[in-house]
Amino acid sequence: MPLNRREFLSGTAGLLASAPSVVSSRTRPAALPDFATIRSDFPWIENQTYINNAGVHPLSAPAARVVEKHLTYKVHGPGPDRLFIGEPEIEELKELYGRLINAKATEVALVQSTLAGENVVAAGLGLHRGGGNIVTDEFHYHGGAYIYRELEAAGLEVRIVKQRDWRTHMRDFEEMVDKNTRLIAITLVSNINGFVADSKALSELAHANGAYVYADVIQAAGCIPVDVRALGIDFCCAGGYKWLMGLEGLGFLYVKEELQDEVLRPTQYGDRQYDNIQYHNFPGSPAGDADVTWEPKPGAARYEIGTVPHVVVASQLQSLQYILDIGVDRIQAHATPMVERLLREMPRLGYPTITPAGTGSPLAAFQASDPDALLSKLKRANVDVKVKWYQTRVSPGAYNNDDDIDALLNALS
Ligand SMILES: Cc1ncc(COP(=O)(O)O)c(C=O)c1O
Repeated sequence: MPLNRREFLSGTAGLLASAPSVVSSRTRPAALPDFATIRSDFPWIENQTYINNAGVHPLSAPAARVVEKHLTYKVHGPGPDRLFIGEPEIEELKELYGRLINAKATEVALVQSTLAGENVVAAGLGLHRGGGNIVTDEFHYHGGAYIYRELEAAGLEVRIVKQRDWRTHMRDFEEMVDKNTRLIAITLVSNINGFVADSKALSELAHANGAYVYADVIQAAGCIPVDVRALGIDFCCAGGYKWLMGLEGLGFLYVKEELQDEVLRPTQYGDRQYDNIQYHNFPGSPAGDADVTWEPKPGAARYEIGTVPHVVVASQLQSLQYILDIGVDRIQAHATPMVERLLREMPRLGYPTITPAGTGSPLAAFQASDPDALLSKLKRANVDVKVKWYQTRVSPGAYNNDDDIDALLNALS
């Protein structure tokens, strides 16, 4: 029996074992995927106790199989069980990501990475022309903060809200935002400690002052529910290699529909922005007013430039469908007890936490006064978590379980 599209993309006997033979690619499997099966989809965990998904998420075996199907096409050409990536597949990818954050496919542009997306926003708002201020905070990703510090020379005032008690506070934003604020730029889930910004209140504050909100959502999309409409976010971007379980090389930039025409101007140009290219002065070509004419594509395609990495698209088609099939709410609920346990146990082992209780994100971070000693304990036990800046960060994902937390805690005991 030929595989339907979702079965083909999923390529897993496990996840879809109980799915009906003909299922719409827009519905969940008949039975929700269970977490034991999900674990078996990530063979990395048989080789190492890996709890660093906020760094880079392992690729699942089913996603690797879809990539192989694409590579087989690239090597051998068309044939059964091979995946060609063209515009319909790219459109489908935008739709899948749109479903994840409650956006339309036409509000999603494919860019190279998270920071590439933030650059599109900074340039498109004309921040490099200076004037006014932008308000950001100490938890905003250092690569994003760097963009605005570089623009200071052009006359942009950069105001940075300090964290207190490992959180940012609305009161501090309220003191900094004024009618000259052009953008509030935040990281929705902090890569430092998993703190989740109050993006709804920040959007309201920004909009009341005629400003916009950009959210870096690479540590949020795929691991906590993100609803850009409910949160009032104007622009956000996430790369695919963390909680979206894809390969490196693609970012998903969201630009609210209402802001695409007048507010966020394209500042770079290329062939992904138009359709129906028509030459007019070649022999046999139709007459026209110009040598060449283009029809602009609607929507956020206006922020794209050229060819996107098809291998990465293949991985991401599978993994976004996979995440939607599991349900982000279930992924979050699966990680929460592991995070709570870490927040209880790690301080007892001499690693005081810097993560506020009850964030709802799967990132838990701790102070590490002797990182070298910590690293050698981890190495001996074959456990991978992030260690940097006299801190350690543990970030359990859908395939992790209590055995992994045991392995970490035992290694540090
Ligand atoms: C919050 C955050 N933003 C951005 C990045 C990097 O973004 P990209 O490499 O997709 O541009 C990271 C990487 O760790 C991150 O944690």
